[in-house]
Amino acid sequence: MLRVCVCVSGGGTNLQAIMDAIDAGKITNAEIVRVISNNKNAYALERARNKGITAKAVSPKDFDDRERFNEALLSCIDEAEPDLIVLAGFLVVLPPMMIEKYEGRIINIHPSLIPSFCGKGFYGLKVHEAALARGVRVTGATVHFVDAGTDTGPIILQKAVEVHDGDTPKTLQQRVMEQAEWQILPQAINMIANSKIEEGN
Ligand code: GAR
Repeated sequence: MLRVCVCVSGGGTNLQAIMDAIDAGKITNAEIVRVISNNKNAYALERARNKGITAKAVSPKDFDDRERFNEALLSCIDEAEPDLIVLAGFLVVLPPMMIEKYEGRIINIHPSLIPSFCGKGFYGLKVHEAALARGVRVTGATVHFVDAGTDTGPIILQKAVEVHDGDTPKTLQQRVMEQAEWQILPQAINMIANSKIEEGN
């Protein structure tokens, strides 16, 4: 069984998609051992608790400085003894020591077709605002391994999604989630759990 730790910051629809895929047998040989959020009020934590999964908040607000927060985050992850860390809408810059320690065992979902609309400052709705401002007709989502850069690690899966006339950032975000994110993130976890892909780097 692959021990999966999921890190979240907000609503947790991607976390829900992973939990549903495990229940439906679309992800095999994997279990979520812990969900961690930097935001105590993240609805994602409630989703986890409703499923009986250990859910912890590690908030930067509770620490004097970034270094202490980074240490607490890393020790919360270490406690879970994960084989795989999934960033499912986790809007925190990972401590370099965490990336070093778990190199090749961290994956991230990003709501665009990397290398478009990614990197520093591109997260959540901002990604879709930028895609609409550029006038692209096709966007999508990407699952990739995490390395020291921002959205620069090896790509695992991508799925394209059409932009429609009249889309707003919100309608586009919803379509990208439904048609791409909620499919490829569980798929990537299943591939890793069943050794259909080599771990990153
Ligand atoms: C998702 O769209 C995810 O791709 C995005 O945040 C959202 C979280 O939604 N992540 C990023 O932008 C990372 N750069 P969720 O909490 O409902 O899963």
